[in-house]
Amino acid sequence: MTATLIDGKAFAAGLRARIAAQTAALKDRGITPGLAVVLVGEDPASQVYVRSKGRMTVEVGMNSYEHRLPAETPEAELLALIARLNEDPAVNGILVQLPLPAHMDEAAVINAIRPEKDVDGFHVLNAGRLATGQKAMVPCTPLGCLMLLRDRLGDLSGKSAVVIGRSNIVGKPMAQLLLRDSCTVTIAHSRTQDLPALCRGADILVAAVGRPHFVKGDWIKPGATVIDVGINRIDSGLVGDVDFAGARQAAGAITPVPGGVGPMTIACLLANTLTATARANG
Ligand code: GUN
Repeated sequence: MTATLIDGKAFAAGLRARIAAQTAALKDRGITPGLAVVLVGEDPASQVYVRSKGRMTVEVGMNSYEHRLPAETPEAELLALIARLNEDPAVNGILVQLPLPAHMDEAAVINAIRPEKDVDGFHVLNAGRLATGQKAMVPCTPLGCLMLLRDRLGDLSGKSAVVIGRSNIVGKPMAQLLLRDSCTVTIAHSRTQDLPALCRGADILVAAVGRPHFVKGDWIKPGATVIDVGINRIDSGLVGDVDFAGARQAAGAITPVPGGVGPMTIACLLANTLTATARANG
């Protein structure tokens, strides 16, 4: 069996088109959604992400506000900027690009963002709301994965899901979202015993470990849906956390890297910005 490819690039393009239409409708009411992106320092990967975010924000008709601060900026200065953005009615969403320089307290910075404007969904209140079934801003990458899974599988209820990775950005919120959709969820991590056997029981396998080709083809349950969150740069180019060639032989459907989950992240950021704008304007 050769797996169906899950085309995240096409799905994300469709989502952005729907967001653009809704943005145009808001603009007819005199409301233009605004997204502020803050980049501290000069991490090359972060610069690429921030540039793409700005471009796509403008492409769907929203206002993009970019703030670039030097790596040595005192934390108090970043917090003062966030306080200004929190109060700015033109700014509906605030994203502080991670990682931050080592002298900054990442949690303190994220928790300084008003939860309603936290389009990354990283604020502790949004994490708590998601975990307790309340209306939350949901982190973009797991939200994108969930959309692809629902599109492929429909109702996820009762499915066995294994999430490899326990980060606050992907693994934990992904598990919460799958649980909310009534999956039986296991979170695996570096201390998990017999990971291949665990994965072989998964109808849904989400890999978010950040290690190239970590998940092997013979770990995949025949017919399973495999979501590869990894974006790893190796000599031959970009690869995921899943050994794609091997996994493709067993899986029912799989996301490619690139062109799978990646494009969904920014599309979901724009979706969250639209949601934040709609909530701010009743
Ligand atoms: N760095 C890597 N991924 C992300 C993300 O989704 N949001 C932010 N703010 N920073 C990141």
